[in-house]
Amino acid sequence: MIISDELLQKLSLAKHVMVLTGAGISAESGVPTFRGTNGLWSKLSPEELASFDAFLKNPELVTEWYKQRREIARDARPNTAHLALVEMESMFPDFTLVTQNIDNLHRRAGSKNIVELHGNMEKNYCIGCGKRYDGDVFEMIGSFRCEKCGGLIRPDIVWFGEMLPPDAWDSAEGAARGAEAIFVVGTSAVVYPAAELPLTVKRNGGKLVEVNIEATPLSGSADASFIGPASMILPEIVNKIRELRGAAGRTT
Ligand code: OAD
Ligand code: ZN
Repeated sequence: MIISDELLQKLSLAKHVMVLTGAGISAESGVPTFRGTNGLWSKLSPEELASFDAFLKNPELVTEWYKQRREIARDARPNTAHLALVEMESMFPDFTLVTQNIDNLHRRAGSKNIVELHGNMEKNYCIGCGKRYDGDVFEMIGSFRCEKCGGLIRPDIVWFGEMLPPDAWDSAEGAARGAEAIFVVGTSAVVYPAAELPLTVKRNGGKLVEVNIEATPLSGSADASFIGPASMILPEIVNKIRELRGAAGRTT
């Protein structure tokens, strides 16, 4: 692992720390990513599956697709990268985990202060009356039609062309303005506004540490860039920080 002692020291003393994760952190749990040769978007068209128009045109198809993805995510288990972030949360007094993932694996791993920028596929709501349906709608009512008003029930996630949930975005941006460091893990960093967050941290004087199996558009701005699987690298980073904090006699 190549990281300067000075940067490691700085990270270990930080109080305000944030993390931005993307699909790559769940790849080793068996949840497919979006881009790349085996990514979902290499085989399927986002326009036909991940937009409100697509949903209105073919609600059965879109609902079925999310049902399949929900099953994959439910069968998956958090990996050592998710778990390293749980430990990281316990090390810093102010820690925010911002994720673009909708797979729930951070929550299942035990992370607490999670900001879900793109929603969560365990949540759904009726586009007619707003009634909420958490979990698998088919399992619950055997239909994607609302039992109250007959409206279509959609997953509570962000589709192409849609705004991010304003509260989630405000929390993420607020964290980015005050963060002394951001760890960016397993994201191609091409989807905005999520990809803006690391740059906000940098503009405000914070450090950027990237963990990815390949370089991304952010790599040039990173203070340290680790090329390799998150499941190996994140536990190593957390171990290093734990050692340094232990050496400095810190408990929180
Ligand atoms: P992508 O599929 O675009 O990128 C996944 C990233 O993870 C790539 O940069 C890979 O190199 C990296 N990666 C893969 N395996 C890894 C591993 N084991 N360890 C570390 N890194 C690894 O996924 P996102 O960046 O999350 O949006 O995509 C952003 C958004 O685009 C998603 O939230 C989704 C999608 O369209 C919505 O659905 C709104
Ligand atoms: Zn309804």
